[in-house]
Amino acid sequence: MQKVKINNYPMVNPAPVVIAGAEVDGKPNYATIGAFGVVCLAPVFYISLKETHFTTQGIRENGYFSVNIPTADMVRITDYCGMVSGKTTDKANLFNSFYDDAGKAPMISEAPMNFLCKVIQTVPISGFEVFFGEIVLTYIDDNCLTDGRPDPAKINPMVLVGPNYFNIGQLIGNAFKEGVKFKQV
Ligand SMILES: Cc1cc2nc3c(=O)[nH]c(=O)nc-3n(C[C@H](O)[C@H](O)[C@H](O)COP(=O)(O)O)c2cc1C
Repeated sequence: MQKVKINNYPMVNPAPVVIAGAEVDGKPNYATIGAFGVVCLAPVFYISLKETHFTTQGIRENGYFSVNIPTADMVRITDYCGMVSGKTTDKANLFNSFYDDAGKAPMISEAPMNFLCKVIQTVPISGFEVFFGEIVLTYIDDNCLTDGRPDPAKINPMVLVGPNYFNIGQLIGNAFKEGVKFKQV
């Protein structure tokens, strides 16, 4: 086996597929996002959105966004949500929306896990805006909990690798426990 150099290609990291939500012009709007992640031990997420997206406009205007975790069963509607823009297609009724009391950003009832995030920092980069959002509220369907904790097997999220959607497959180990077994060998 030999290492070969190929074109620089960043889309190999398995990315959780989420749907970002924002209120735009007084209505809910949603965009499918692969560029999402955790940044530190504090409850802060980042999402990176093209600066021209309709959702981006709503996040800028309101200072809040939601992160919704769709199930693998929602692959078609999730993909569709990432193919059409709220600028030309009304996505307000694509999902059933719910709000917290302050009504800052719409969240998706059909998605088993939902986060409401308050923008604390924005970084522009190469035509995108990276929004860092402090998680202010987290909702989960009660049937997705095991012993009071979110259970990934019950949530059944999707992962994007390149242009392909996968479900998360089997549990293969526990963080900070497998390494102990390695050390003992
Ligand atoms: C699987 C998938 C992942 C996507 N990831 C991103 C992303 O990380 N950032 C982004 O700006 N757009 C991403 N998109 C594209 C937007 O979801 C898409 O352009 C959407 O139509 C924007 O909607 P809006 O204009 O109503 O906000 C993705 C689309 C798909 C299908």
